[in-house]
Amino acid sequence: MTLPVCRADTPVVEVIKQLDRSGEARAVIVSPRDEYVCQISPNEIRRHLLTGLDADSPIGSIAEASPLFLREPELADPERRRAVAVELRAAGYSHCAVVDAGGRFLRVVPCEELLGAAGGPQPAAAGGVQRVLVIGGAGYLGAVLVAELRAAGYAVRVLDNFIYGRGALAGLAESGRIEVVDGDIRNIQTIVSGLADVDAVVLLAAVVGDPASQTRPTQTIETNLLAAQAIAFACRSQQINRFLYASTCSVYGQGDGLLTEQSALAPVSLYARTKIASEQSILALADGTFSPTILRLGTLYGLSPRMRFDLVVNTMAMKAFVDRKITVFGGAQWRPLLHVRDAARAFVACLAAPLAAVGGAVFNVGSEEQNYQIAEIARLISEALGGIPIDRQGSTLDARDYRVSFRRLRDVLGVTPCHTVAEAAREIYACLQGGTIRNPLARVYFNHYFDSTEE
Ligand SMILES: NC(=O)c1ccc[n+]([C@@H]2O[C@H](COP(=O)([O-])OP(=O)(O)OC[C@H]3O[C@@H](n4cnc5c(N)ncnc54)[C@H](O)[C@@H]3O)[C@@H](O)[C@H]2O)c1
Repeated sequence: MTLPVCRADTPVVEVIKQLDRSGEARAVIVSPRDEYVCQISPNEIRRHLLTGLDADSPIGSIAEASPLFLREPELADPERRRAVAVELRAAGYSHCAVVDAGGRFLRVVPCEELLGAAGGPQPAAAGGVQRVLVIGGAGYLGAVLVAELRAAGYAVRVLDNFIYGRGALAGLAESGRIEVVDGDIRNIQTIVSGLADVDAVVLLAAVVGDPASQTRPTQTIETNLLAAQAIAFACRSQQINRFLYASTCSVYGQGDGLLTEQSALAPVSLYARTKIASEQSILALADGTFSPTILRLGTLYGLSPRMRFDLVVNTMAMKAFVDRKITVFGGAQWRPLLHVRDAARAFVACLAAPLAAVGGAVFNVGSEEQNYQIAEIARLISEALGGIPIDRQGSTLDARDYRVSFRRLRDVLGVTPCHTVAEAAREIYACLQGGTIRNPLARVYFNHYFDSTEE
């Protein structure tokens, strides 16, 4: 890999485009006579955009000449090579520019190579992304995703207003392994400060689930639609082009056969309607640079540091423990399920994929094997937990009924979910038995109560 090289008269927006395409963290800027000027990062450019720089201005208008480079003959001097490389690495650079006797740019050399074996490992960065902003990172999916992102080597900032408490991220935040911004995305200033110096944004924050959106419809529209639009717009204007939006397979509502990303949408709730409207307004902002990706997740299940017991698998496993039976309402409805850890893996894969492969795309996230009828889910859980009785009720509480194709996810991202309902049911049951969660019926575990009591 080598860094993109841009002439000083290249428009800022073009430099960003080349950086996005290359997946590199910096571009080399050279004068019209090919003299080396400096290396510049997307975040340095974004800071200027935020103070009013026009994205069509030449990059030379903000590129300041840097003294940190090597002349070709200096490559033969181990001490000089090392000194420059150490200084560059300390300042966060991965490469050193090499120039000829006239100061003309020749090539870049990795600092690692200049340092030799003593250089130590390079900081991780996939697809040019180093710092990720996870909006809604304190939630059920967010808390799992944040841990996955840290494990993958990303720096993580979480922006959340902690509707359901702070417990899920307390350990990571206290140890300084993540940065936390406490704020409401319905506030523009919060959005702008949260976006400072990030390379990619994952938007999870929402009023989530049909019952919660029914309880607070105005908050749902403000958060799921208006704030989501504002965030996407702010990202586009600051050239933060990698933007992942968590949508839901609930947008399909009711449908026949295996539904693909092109199938008709038939929402049966305000929640699903706001998700569709935000998908559409985010995708409408896509242009040559801003490249949002929509991930339509199946219904999630499994343990998370911010637990929810209002999701079908989690509810059934919890009821098996509390009531010693599993109650099923209706039972014939189809629903795609997805383990929360598999969902997190899909986001991580998407962040690392070339922008050209995922920008402007919609992905269903799940697996065909986990399109289940509700009665089948109850049977699987009952079996996994040693034969807990199932109580079938005639009435159906939830009108959603659809099966989904996940072919695009497999073909483009190579993601295949691997965790199962049985495994999650056993994990949840063991966690309840062990007393890690003392009162699973507490309101904090059910989104529609909007309760921030820590358990
Ligand atoms: N859980 C599922 O089964 C499921 C399925 C499909 C899609 N999704 C999507 O995944 C995303 C995450 O869902 P979840 O299950 O983790 O939900 P969650 O309710 O556990 O998490 C949402 C997070 O967003 C935060 N938030 C809400 N409003 C905010 C605001 N105005 N400002 C700042 N933060 C705010 C909350 O405090 C919470 O931490 C959502 O966008 C949801 O639509 C979830």
